[in-house]
Order: sequence, then C-alpha cells, then structure tokens
Amino acid sequence: MPATKVVVNIPDETPYDVRIGQNILGQLGHALRKLDQFSAIDQVLIITDDNVAPLYLAQTKEALSSAGFRVSDLSVHAGEDAKSLDVAKEIYEAMAMLALGRDCAVVALGGGVVGDLAGFVGSTYMRGVEVVQVPTTLLAMVDSSVGGKTGVNLQAGKNLVGTFNQPAYVCADTTVLMTLDEREWACGCAEIAKSAVIDSDDFFFWLTDAAAALSARDMAATEEAIARSVVFKADVVAQDKTESHGVRECLNYGHTLGHAIEKLAGYGVYSHGACVADGMRFAVRLGMRLVDTPQELVDAQDALLDELGLPKLPSHFEPQAILDAMKRDKKARHGQVRFVLPRDVGDWVLMDVEDDIILEQLQDW
Ligand code: GLY
Repeated sequence: MPATKVVVNIPDETPYDVRIGQNILGQLGHALRKLDQFSAIDQVLIITDDNVAPLYLAQTKEALSSAGFRVSDLSVHAGEDAKSLDVAKEIYEAMAMLALGRDCAVVALGGGVVGDLAGFVGSTYMRGVEVVQVPTTLLAMVDSSVGGKTGVNLQAGKNLVGTFNQPAYVCADTTVLMTLDEREWACGCAEIAKSAVIDSDDFFFWLTDAAAALSARDMAATEEAIARSVVFKADVVAQDKTESHGVRECLNYGHTLGHAIEKLAGYGVYSHGACVADGMRFAVRLGMRLVDTPQELVDAQDALLDELGLPKLPSHFEPQAILDAMKRDKKARHGQVRFVLPRDVGDWVLMDVEDDIILEQLQDW
C-alpha cells in the first residue's frame, strides 16, 4: 500500500507533511533532506524512551545517518513523569554538552509523552530548533504529533508549561503499531471516535462500518482512520492554532469528564482514551438534556465505543469530587466547567454548564 500524505497548512506557519504508511521509517532521513529547512542541518538528536528505544531506535538512527545526518540520542524513562522541567533541563544540558547549535533538529521518537517533551525542548532550546515527530502509538499518530502543542507537567497539573510549535515533518509508520498492547490500541481508537463524532457524517459512518476492522488492526482500516483523523485535526488547527477562537476546543470533546476521572483514579489506572470515551458517553447525554441531542446519536456512539473496546467505566467517584476535579482543570473558565456538546454528528457547541446541572447528571451516571 503506498504511503498517504496529508499536508498541514496553517496560516503563518510553514506547511508540513504527515506521512502515514507501512515501513516508511527507513525513508525518514531522505524525506527530511527534501525539506528546505533541513538543507543546512547537520546534527540531529533523537529523543525517545526506554520502552521504544530497544524496538525502533537503531532503525531510526540508521534512517537518519544514511541521509548524512550526524545522529545522537537520548532516552528518558517511559511514563508521564518524564514530562517535567527537571527532565527537560537534563536534555538541554546534554544538548549543550553535545555542542548542538541552532542548526540542529530534534526528532521525537515515541508516544505522546515523548512527543510533548521533545517538542517542548526543541521549541525552546536556543529559542527553537526544528522538530520532527515520529509517533509510535496510535494515540500520538491521530492526535498529539499533529497541531504543535508541546508541554511539560507541574505538580499543580498536566501541561501547565508549554508552547505552540508546529513540527517540520511527521512520520507515522503504521508497522510500529503492531507492538502496541490492547489497552494502548483502544486508547488511540477513542481519539479517532472523538474526531469522527465532531467531524462529519462521512467520517462517523465510515468509522461505524470500519470499527471491527480497526479493532482487529486491519492495516487499510488503520491507515484510513489515521489519515481521516489527521485531515480533521489539521483543518481544526488551521482555523484556530492557539485554541483562542473557540474552534480548537472541539478537540476536547469527552475530555472534561475524561480528565477528571483520569486524575481521580490516579494517572495510569485507566488509559487516557478509556477516560475520554467515558467523557464522550457523559457529554452526549448532557447534550440530550441541554441541546436536544438525539437519542440515536447516544445509541450509535455507545455502540461504536463498545465495538472499539471502550466499555463504560465503573463509576466509583462521588459527583462532588468529580465536579471539583473538573473545576481545577486548566480548561475551566472563571470557575465554570465547559463542555463540548454534540448537537448531532458534525455539529457541536461549547457550553459553560451550571454546577447543579452537572451534579444532577452525575447522580444519574
Ligand atoms: N489534543 C488536543 C489539541 O491538540 O488541541
């Protein structure tokens, strides 16, 4: 199957390609050499983690060095703890020791944590060097590697320090997905389902038909799901790069309750995607109450999430504890909790919802 190319064309940014296909990692260096920004780049630093390094680091180094780059690498401990200012500082110091200048590039080889951390380091080291994303999870391919959000966590919360910085290139080699476990696979499927509900009937009904194939990791279905998600995200980010025009917020569908559950359960207990899927089930029901969302959408979305291996999570938390967690989220505004509510497939609204309505809905949850 030939690789798919999606061009991300954001106003005031250099357009970049997202390549999606099997066995394309080996072509990474030659693909970068075709970009104007890489004509003067000689040194590349690969940032990865200790889960991904044994699997794909050697191949990535070879792909870059065969195109004439001098390649160094740094591996961090796998897991959310790597997204810290302390780890970022260690990487800056290592980059300085390697005498990397402004004419270097950072390659993020890994899932969302590595992508966010390496993107942050790359966008701030010497006021910014080129960043290339090589996502190795389905979640990172369909969401975090595209759109330019980077960041690290503080004690007070996730992603509280970061930048908007678009990568120069994204290489999504779908062969690397075959080593993901079931939980990680379903996690990526949740963000695909989110995109489909928010995007259009075309995407939603395609995904409904393709859900069994996607769950079975059929390559054609997987590549099409990634490509559709990236086209959707690229369009949203082109309209609202910095999430300040009331458009990019649609990507947070399912995340208001999802983030609260993820936090209350303890990060890692449920996958991010499992929590987002639960948040979608909640938001669509809140939509029925507040914006006349049809029952058919509730049922169709439930069936889709079930088919994708994202069952409803057990509800162990008190409504007030969930509400408090939502209010502490950085996306709450002036103490009001905001939801993306689908009025129907492809038709959504961003709404501040009163506490008593949220509490009532949580009681029924
Ligand atoms: N993951 C949501 C966004 O990129 O805005």
